[in-house]
Amino acid sequence: MAKRKRRLKMHPALLMRVILDQACVLEKAILEGDMNAIEAGSEEVRNIFKEGQGKWENGLITIEDDGIGIRSEQEVEEFFDEFGRPHDDSENIIWKRFRMGRGQLFAYGRNTWRTGTFKMVVDIKNKGLDYDFEDGLPHFNRTKIEVELYENPFNWSYNSVDALRQDQASSGVHAGTHPFQWNSTEYSSG
Ligand SMILES: Nc1ncnc2c1ncn2[C@@H]1O[C@H](COP(=O)(O)OP(=O)(O)OP(=O)(O)O)[C@@H](O)[C@H]1O
Ligand SMILES: [Mg+2]
Repeated sequence: MAKRKRRLKMHPALLMRVILDQACVLEKAILEGDMNAIEAGSEEVRNIFKEGQGKWENGLITIEDDGIGIRSEQEVEEFFDEFGRPHDDSENIIWKRFRMGRGQLFAYGRNTWRTGTFKMVVDIKNKGLDYDFEDGLPHFNRTKIEVELYENPFNWSYNSVDALRQDQASSGVHAGTHPFQWNSTEYSSG
């Protein structure tokens, strides 16, 4: 008889399930992106919606902010690559809890993140959990997330870009002012 310690572990398929199952509606996913931008100290967050055409046959959503961005490869590893990592005191915490919110954006389309000298392209549907990473690019002083949607949202709850924009605006984020308001509560980004 041999006694020893064993450790329970997670199969990558479970992480994939968590990413896909936490996404419920597109506007909530966009709101997650906006909340991240605000927590990154942004004074301005831009959401741009483009209806499907040409390369983005199902539509393109862009979330761009002027916050601190992801500043080092260590931050990429700890904050972007890893789901569920506990937060530390150096981070600006308003809403963040689970280190999972970005998964909602991943669930809706092929994500291209550009921040600092980095570019991350996550395509959950076609490439799974492996993603393309580039470093050493010209320094980009903002964070820009482009989501090429896997499905056309205008077949779901919206019939136009305006309807989607309206819905997103009514979810409570008013970007572009400082300090920020969210659900009528004022937050300082500092
Ligand atoms: N726009 C952004 N600018 C700078 N860093 C960002 C941005 N978006 C995400 N991040 C980084 O990626 C991390 C992961 O984001 P994610 O939304 O997945 O989790 P979280 O915000 O930490 O927690 P929660 O699951 O509650 O949203 C953030 O903690 C932050 O460090
Ligand atoms: Mg978040």
